[in-house]
Amino acid sequence: MDTLEAITTRRSVRKFSDKPVEAEKLRAVLEAARLAPSWANLQCWRFVVVEDAGVKGKISELSYVEAFFKPKGYKTNPAQNALASAPVVIVACAEPLDSGDLRGQQYYMTDVGIATENLMLAAHALGLGSVFVGVFDEEAMGDLLGIPPEIRIVGLFPLGYPLEESKGGPPRKPLDEIVFYGKWKS
Ligand SMILES: Cc1cc2nc3c(=O)[nH]c(=O)nc-3n(C[C@H](O)[C@H](O)[C@H](O)COP(=O)(O)O)c2cc1C
Repeated sequence: MDTLEAITTRRSVRKFSDKPVEAEKLRAVLEAARLAPSWANLQCWRFVVVEDAGVKGKISELSYVEAFFKPKGYKTNPAQNALASAPVVIVACAEPLDSGDLRGQQYYMTDVGIATENLMLAAHALGLGSVFVGVFDEEAMGDLLGIPPEIRIVGLFPLGYPLEESKGGPPRKPLDEIVFYGKWKS
């Protein structure tokens, strides 16, 4: 699968089969993340790979943050079951001091965002699926996984073989709504 096809056909996967992820494929997905560009090539990303069913279950519980979801009428994080049932969960973290802080923008989010898009595209190209899970109780997650408070937890990535064929994902805004030529909104 070439890059454009991977970008075009990737969708968030929230239902996984029981089939385990081969060690070589897990390594290839992590390798794709490792090769991402980053601020001054400082590579602030760190990854915790979780395969223990009990720990994945706790991670899943911590992805429901009532204060965030309840006002929206959600009784679960849509990816909550995915975190419990995927064979692997990759917890993507950042060492903020190993990245840039300019104009009030903290680039560790950009660095880890790029690395984890690589991770999701590589997973898709290898027949696997994943989803970026950004809503979770960060403090409790840190306690669960022994992640120190100075490390930020950016996202959770359940990884496994998709249970079903993709039915297509939510639409994107058209280019003429998001691209301006020469000047803002012209
Ligand atoms: C930063 C970020 C946080 C996200 N957090 C969640 C989440 O907590 N739960 C979830 O089910 N999906 C989450 N998503 C997945 C998005 O809902 C999904 O990518 C978007 O709807 C587009 O669908 P697609 O990935 O299938 O193209 C997140 C995505 C991003 C980029």
